[in-house]
Amino acid sequence: MTTPASPLSVHGDRHFDGLADKFAASLYGGVRGELRLALLDRLLPEMLDLRGQPLLDVGGGLGQLAAWFAGRGHPVTLAEPSAEMLERAREALLEASVEREVTFLQAPLQALPERAAGPWSLIACHAVLEWLGDPRGALATLAGLLAPGGQLSLMVFNRDALRFSNVVKGNLEKALDDRLEGKGLRRRLTPVSPLTHAQLMAWSEELGLEVRSVAGVRVFHDYLRKPPESDADRQRLFELEWRYCRVEPHWRLGRYLLYTLVRPGASPSSTEESPR
Ligand SMILES: C[S@@+](CC[C@H](N)C(=O)[O-])C[C@H]1O[C@@H](n2cnc3c(N)ncnc32)[C@H](O)[C@@H]1O
Repeated sequence: MTTPASPLSVHGDRHFDGLADKFAASLYGGVRGELRLALLDRLLPEMLDLRGQPLLDVGGGLGQLAAWFAGRGHPVTLAEPSAEMLERAREALLEASVEREVTFLQAPLQALPERAAGPWSLIACHAVLEWLGDPRGALATLAGLLAPGGQLSLMVFNRDALRFSNVVKGNLEKALDDRLEGKGLRRRLTPVSPLTHAQLMAWSEELGLEVRSVAGVRVFHDYLRKPPESDADRQRLFELEWRYCRVEPHWRLGRYLLYTLVRPGASPSSTEESPR
């Protein structure tokens, strides 16, 4: 696939056309990807009130999260601007035999108030905000799609963890200059807008969202000097990640921060006609 001259969208976002293979290998290949999915598998049922509600998965990528929710009986609308990623998600969901639970929508987050207005009682937006030119505006859009009492499962790439891993890798000048952001050019997978917990807290408050819970995803793995080699060590690492992912101070340096944000108001399940 050829890379377009400017990979950024009109909004300054990095849609993942041309990146599907690299993304699949770097973010989901190996122990890194296994840990991410295994931790989400345990964290999501604890952090969310799940009752088979319809889910809007924003920037659904290769469809792993959509498959997880669809496999648990949630009808899923997977919105994704990249045609290439959407096609890959379709294939993955077909293979997982859950594609009938999933509606595929080729659209960026910014178009969702028109294309999938809801309101939704459950939205997931994982590892997307850090690829956008205006992540705060995007969070406001997501807040506007939530029903009163609706839950947003938000995962963001942690800027503080990025600094830490740069120092660990010896990129001292870059860390000292605080040049941590990627430019979104070529096939680089350094996010253009990595975010801090402080930003998320401030924006949530401004937007009237309640921060119900937070966890760090991969609080140790990305700083290891050598990857675990045996299955037993991989299992030990997973147990350590699980034990400390919600414990001070470790969660704060998770590669990703996972939040449950709730729009205050009546619980959708208590109303007669459940909004989406
Ligand atoms: C790092 S991937 C995350 C995919 C998936 N949510 C996951 O957790 O594996 C980022 C995704 O966001 C998508 N994306 C980029 N700009 C977007 C936008 N404006 N609206 C929605 N998704 C966007 C990309 O195309 C890509 O599929």
